[in-house]
Amino acid sequence: MLDLIIRNARISGEKDTVDFGCQDGRIVERVHHLDAPAHQEIDASGNLVTPPFVDSHFHMDSTLTYGRPRVNQSGTLLEGIALWGELKPDLDFDDIQSRARLLCRWAVGKGNLAIRAHVDVCDPALLAVRALLEIREEMRPYLDIQLVAFPQDGYYRYPQAGALLEEALDLGVDVVGGIPHFERTTAQGTRSVSALCELAAQRGLLVDLHCDETDDPQSRHVEALAFETQRLGMQGRVCGSHLTSMHSMDNYYAGKLIALIGEAELSVIANPLINITIQGRMETYPKRRGLTRVKEMLEQGINVAFGHDCVMDPWYSFGSHDMLEVAHMGLHVGQMTGVDQVRSVFDAVTVNAARAMQLEGYGLDPGCNADMVILQAEDPMEAVRLRAHRLFVIRRGEVIASSPEVNSTVTLGKTQEAVGFRNGELPD
Ligand code: FE2
Repeated sequence: MLDLIIRNARISGEKDTVDFGCQDGRIVERVHHLDAPAHQEIDASGNLVTPPFVDSHFHMDSTLTYGRPRVNQSGTLLEGIALWGELKPDLDFDDIQSRARLLCRWAVGKGNLAIRAHVDVCDPALLAVRALLEIREEMRPYLDIQLVAFPQDGYYRYPQAGALLEEALDLGVDVVGGIPHFERTTAQGTRSVSALCELAAQRGLLVDLHCDETDDPQSRHVEALAFETQRLGMQGRVCGSHLTSMHSMDNYYAGKLIALIGEAELSVIANPLINITIQGRMETYPKRRGLTRVKEMLEQGINVAFGHDCVMDPWYSFGSHDMLEVAHMGLHVGQMTGVDQVRSVFDAVTVNAARAMQLEGYGLDPGCNADMVILQAEDPMEAVRLRAHRLFVIRRGEVIASSPEVNSTVTLGKTQEAVGFRNGELPD
């Protein structure tokens, strides 16, 4: 007797629907028709079934603080940093946890079952680290949280950051973070890349640095990150987040750098919602977009993922932790509207992000964790277009969130009008 069967599931790129059989938290069957009894059956009705969405870059310590102690009036990065400085001394352990819990509930409802959260370690009490380590364990039945020790105020620039970062790792934080472009000088930034990669190599940990999140085309820390990754034999275990300087770089140099990123097997994590609102902010016209070179790197076989980065915090007043909203923005800003490009944008919030986080058992093949999302859409393009409704969110073979289908018709006066057409509802 199987625990769960999902029937009539549509998988991206496959013509016929399939049935999934799940047992003991894993997918054990994936066939066109599964003839077996099960404790529970779900009819996906030809809707798209995908492995869960993955947010590979997020800030859980600051999330849902919108309006505290005041709203970011200008919407700029600088006012955001100032606001975070005002807010940080008043952060409270219980408050960090209750905001994180709420965000995780939103995430589960949207089918996001893995989040990599950068947590600020520039706090002598490591309050957010301690609070989120508990949340990581509390949420394990529902979603996977990876914590990154992130020295927001600089690994060298903030006096105790090095010791605090190591203390955070000792407490159980998973990944080594950094922010080389924020150090006082380029040389210090480069040194921080070396030191942080060495620290991760010694401890056998992954690396994910906020790297060159600037419009300065001369910012060269991605190059250093690729070099250190190769020097230390850490290929495939290092992520560069943001990389917005690459948008502004000379094409000749960017071409060389992309090759270096490929050699080092870096994963790249862009954050379209934040990059498009913060980069190029000081300019008149023409205005740079600031998103890193997503299309070009994907074409070179580099693993590119998208993160949400912020939801309702000092830097970003919007968001509901919907990774399809992130994909939708990335597609527009990166001008990736080709059919294969839309599919790769969908991958950026699913499989590529899972690879960046090195999640185990991720996918829809037999043997993978029985973690899936059934979307009210027939393919990735429709899912992105509609930011499709999540009908079922399944974790280890159990439904952990569900909602009824939404109707695409509304009553206008005395007539019913269709809004937000599904593909099958388009008039002939
Ligand atoms: Fe970030």
